[in-house]
Amino acid sequence: MPPPDPDAFRVAMSGLPTGVTIVTANGPDGPAGATANAVSSLSIEPMMMLACLDRGSRTLLAVQAADGFGISVLHAGQEPIARAFATKAPVAEKWTGVAWSERDGLPAIDDALIWIACDLRDVISAGDHVIVTGEVRALESRQGDPLVFHAGEYRPLA
Ligand SMILES: Cc1cc2nc3c(=O)[nH]c(=O)nc-3n(C[C@H](O)[C@H](O)[C@H](O)COP(=O)(O)O)c2cc1C
Repeated sequence: MPPPDPDAFRVAMSGLPTGVTIVTANGPDGPAGATANAVSSLSIEPMMMLACLDRGSRTLLAVQAADGFGISVLHAGQEPIARAFATKAPVAEKWTGVAWSERDGLPAIDDALIWIACDLRDVISAGDHVIVTGEVRALESRQGDPLVFHAGEYRPLA
């Protein structure tokens, strides 16, 4: 059998529904953030998270410079924020019109369902991405309808 091609891989994996987060950090040029769904809890003892960031992600540079990162899990009404942070617009422009605040020394999206602040632990090379792991040092969460990404579209869970 021929090896699967990247397009088939992309299409196949688009069938895995995920939540939608904004990974953030204070970089040398100010707050940076990227829409990311390759984000997961990793360990309970100690509490750890991971995020997979593209080698070309400006947010990755900010995470490494800041030695930490934040994760804001979006609710169903925050699709415009997911769209804004999935672009290569100038880093500062992404925050225009977005309600955010400095929390635990990191930029956080206001009103997100979950907020997690992490100290950077590992930076692991993985193909065209880099896996960053972080130890959780602050956590806030509330119940609500999460934003879901599936088959290339944003959807509410309900
Ligand atoms: C739903 C969705 C999920 C995404 N997940 C990731 C991800 O997990 N990791 C990543 O590096 N990029 C992901 N991206 C792409 C980034 O958001 C995009 O490359 C962005 O421009 C990066 O911005 P930056 O260069 O300012 O960091 C995702 C995009 C979308 C629309």
